[in-house]
Amino acid sequence: AVVVRRRMRSSGRWARAEGVVRELEERCASPAGKLRQVADAMTVEMHAGLASEGGSKLKMLISYVDNLPTGDEQGLFYALDLGGTNFRVMRVQLGGKERRVVKEESKEVSIPPHLMVGSSDELFDFIAAELAKFVASEGEGFHLSVGRQRELGFTFSFPVRQTSIASGTLIKWTKGFSIEETIGEDVVVELTKAMERQGLDMRVAALVNDTIGTLAGGRYYDNDVVAAVILGTGTNAAYVERAHAIPKWHGLLPKSGEMVINMEWGNFRSSHIPLTEYDQALDVESLNPGEQIFEKIISGMYLGEILRRVLLKLAEEAAFFGDSIPTKLKIPFILRTPDMSAMHHDTSSDLRVVGNKLKEILGISGTSLKARKLVIYICDIIAFRGARLSAAGIVGILKKLGRDTVASSGSEKQRTVIAMDGGLFEHYTKFSQCLESTVKELLGEEAAESVVIKLANDGSGIGAALMAAAHSQYTELEES
Ligand code: GLC
Repeated sequence: AVVVRRRMRSSGRWARAEGVVRELEERCASPAGKLRQVADAMTVEMHAGLASEGGSKLKMLISYVDNLPTGDEQGLFYALDLGGTNFRVMRVQLGGKERRVVKEESKEVSIPPHLMVGSSDELFDFIAAELAKFVASEGEGFHLSVGRQRELGFTFSFPVRQTSIASGTLIKWTKGFSIEETIGEDVVVELTKAMERQGLDMRVAALVNDTIGTLAGGRYYDNDVVAAVILGTGTNAAYVERAHAIPKWHGLLPKSGEMVINMEWGNFRSSHIPLTEYDQALDVESLNPGEQIFEKIISGMYLGEILRRVLLKLAEEAAFFGDSIPTKLKIPFILRTPDMSAMHHDTSSDLRVVGNKLKEILGISGTSLKARKLVIYICDIIAFRGARLSAAGIVGILKKLGRDTVASSGSEKQRTVIAMDGGLFEHYTKFSQCLESTVKELLGEEAAESVVIKLANDGSGIGAALMAAAHSQYTELEES
C-alpha cells in the first residue's frame, strides 16, 4: 500500500511537472510564421529609428564610422574592450595590405562585480590601471614611430550617443552594470581622465560599440561583410546603411555614402515576441525593468537565469526535487549560461553532466534519469527560442538591406556575410546551430545560399584598433 501511494504521489508530481513544461513550451513557441512577423517588425522599427531621434525602441545609433578598414592600416595600436563580465586590453602591429596583423597580444581581466555597480571613477581607474600595466609590458615586435603618442580604440559596449568618432555620452547601462553618475557623461573623457591619473600617455582615437568593432574587424578580412551580430553577455547588431536612408542624420554626406549604424537591438520589443511569466518576473526584478526585452530572452546573461526560474517553479509546484525546495535554487543568477550549455550538450547515456551540475551548483542530488531528461528538454525550449528570435532579427536586417531574396535573374549572385561574435554564439553549439538553420528556414534554401554567417572571433578587438588607425592623429601626415 505504501509503495502504491508513493507511486501515485510521484505520478501526480510528474503530471504537474509535465504540465508546467508543456505550458512553457506553448508560451515559447516560435513557428516560422511568428518569426516572419518578428522580422517584419524589426524592419519597420529600423525605419522608424532612422527617421527620427526617439522614433523607435531601436535607437539606431549613428556610429560616425563611414569608412570600414581597407587593409592599408599601419602601425602600433591599442584596443580596450569593456562590455561584459571581462574586459580586454590588446595591442596590434598592423603591417598594411600585404602583411596585415604582424603581431598581436592581449590580456583578459575579469571585472570585480562591485565595480559594475559602484562609482564611475573607480571603474575607469581600474580599467586604466590594467591598461597602464599592459602598456608597460610592451616588448619586442611592436614599434611605435619616433615621437608619436600611443593611440587606442575604445570598445565600449553600451548604448552611446556619439558626437564624433572619438566622443560620446552614455545613454544607459545594460547587462548588469549600473552606475548612475556615468549616464550622460562622455565616456572618452572619463577614460582619458583616468589614464591621466595613472600617468599613462595615450590618446583615444576611436570610440566604438562591440558590434561596430566586429563589423570593422570582419570587413578587414572579408569585403562582403555588411552586418555584425553579438551574442554574448548581451546581444546587439550593427550594419552598413546608405547615408541618405538616414533621415535623422543632418551632418555632411560622407564620401563613401555610407554610415554604420549601431542598432541596439537588445532593446527591441514587439507583440509578436513570445514571452512567459518567467521573463516577466526576471524583467521586473532586473536592474533595468522594462528595458532590453529582446536581450533578456536571448543573451548569455539571462538564459541560465530563465532556466533557474523554471526549475524553481517545478520545485514549488511539483515538488520536482523532493519535498523541500532546494535553497540554492532561490538564488538569482546562480545558474550561469555556460553551465546550462554544458548540461544541454551532455551526451552521456545517464546524463551525468546534468546530474553533476545540479548537484554542484544547486545542491540537488540523486536526480533520476527521467528528471535529467526533462531538464534537457527545458534547455531546448529556452535556448531554441533565443536562437530562433536572433535568426528573425538577422532576417529583419537582411530585409532592410534588400538581401533576403534571391538576386534577380541575370545579375550575379551577391554574397552577404554577417560577422558574428560573443561567447554564446561561439560556445553554445546547439544555440548557434539552431540560429543558422532558422535563418535558412526563413529565407528558403536558395536565398540562404548567398548568406554566410561567420564567426569573426575577436573581430571587435582588431576592429577597434583598425578604427583607431583610420582616425589616428598622424594619418594625414602619412598620406601626404
Ligand atoms: C548590450 C549593449 C550593447 C552591446 C551588446 C553586446 O546590448 O547595450 O551596446 O553591443 O550588449 O555586447
